[in-house]
Amino acid sequence: MLFERAAAIKKRFQSGVPERSLSGKTLGLIFEKPSTRTRVSFEAAMVQLGGTPVFISAKDTQISRNEPVRDTARVLSRYLDGLAIRTYSQEILTEFAEFASIPVINALTDLFHPCQVLSDIMTVIEYKGRYNDLKIAWVGDGNNVAHSWVNAAAVLGLRLFMACPEGYLPDPDIMKRAEERNTGEIVLITDPLEAVKNADVVYTDVWASMGQERELDGRRRTFEPFQVNQALLKNAAENVIVMHCLPAHRGEEISEDVLEGPNSVVWDQSENKLHMHKAILSILLGGDS
Ligand code: CP
Ligand code: NVA
Repeated sequence: MLFERAAAIKKRFQSGVPERSLSGKTLGLIFEKPSTRTRVSFEAAMVQLGGTPVFISAKDTQISRNEPVRDTARVLSRYLDGLAIRTYSQEILTEFAEFASIPVINALTDLFHPCQVLSDIMTVIEYKGRYNDLKIAWVGDGNNVAHSWVNAAAVLGLRLFMACPEGYLPDPDIMKRAEERNTGEIVLITDPLEAVKNADVVYTDVWASMGQERELDGRRRTFEPFQVNQALLKNAAENVIVMHCLPAHRGEEISEDVLEGPNSVVWDQSENKLHMHKAILSILLGGDS
């Protein structure tokens, strides 16, 4: 299983055991939005597994001069063993996946951030020993990371309580698909206190995602009651862990003292992106199941 594989990879890495399972393999990374963690952890993962990352800034390619995605996908498939893509619309990613003959990995779109949530669940397992029968609270925007939590909840049977302001709820189609599949419990509410009450995990993310910067002023007013701060956290379970995919905006979606406080696991969470990305790459590019 993916989480066990990632944990084993982390353990070997920390003990200094070299792992070269992707020797001779090349991963392309097409990024149309900024990234610190996802880009660097994917690149480092490739290098540490003996492979080679090739970073492709979309604006320096013919994609920026409107070469069709389907052509780019077919050409790059002749050079590379896999592609990680960070872009705006989910449709672009889907078209890449349809026309590429190599694995295509979602490194974030406007709609989803699946690799993030996989490494987040790895972190939950490290701290809590499991992911089922925990109360997981999402507080804030019903955004791309929230959507991937919804999908994870449906597939893994999580107890996910989401508090989002009216008008910023997750996409109804994504909710509907998840509910049809769901084996756990997905509860959508607008009261952050109710979501956080006795929660084992409290997760938040920025109020305005990449591409929504112009909406930030308006959003600040709407989202103010959704700040994860000490007052809100008092309602959570005693050993609650606080998570944030980062980058964080202190004083907006999370207070400085909570982000830097004893319940915050954000640095381990960030680190686990490296190990989870290695697990994903070793399956997709290494041919291991
Ligand atoms: N969490 C995350 O995806 O961060 P980056 O935008 O820095 O990649
Ligand atoms: N929701 C955020 C996540 C960043 C990792 C964004 O899309 O900007």
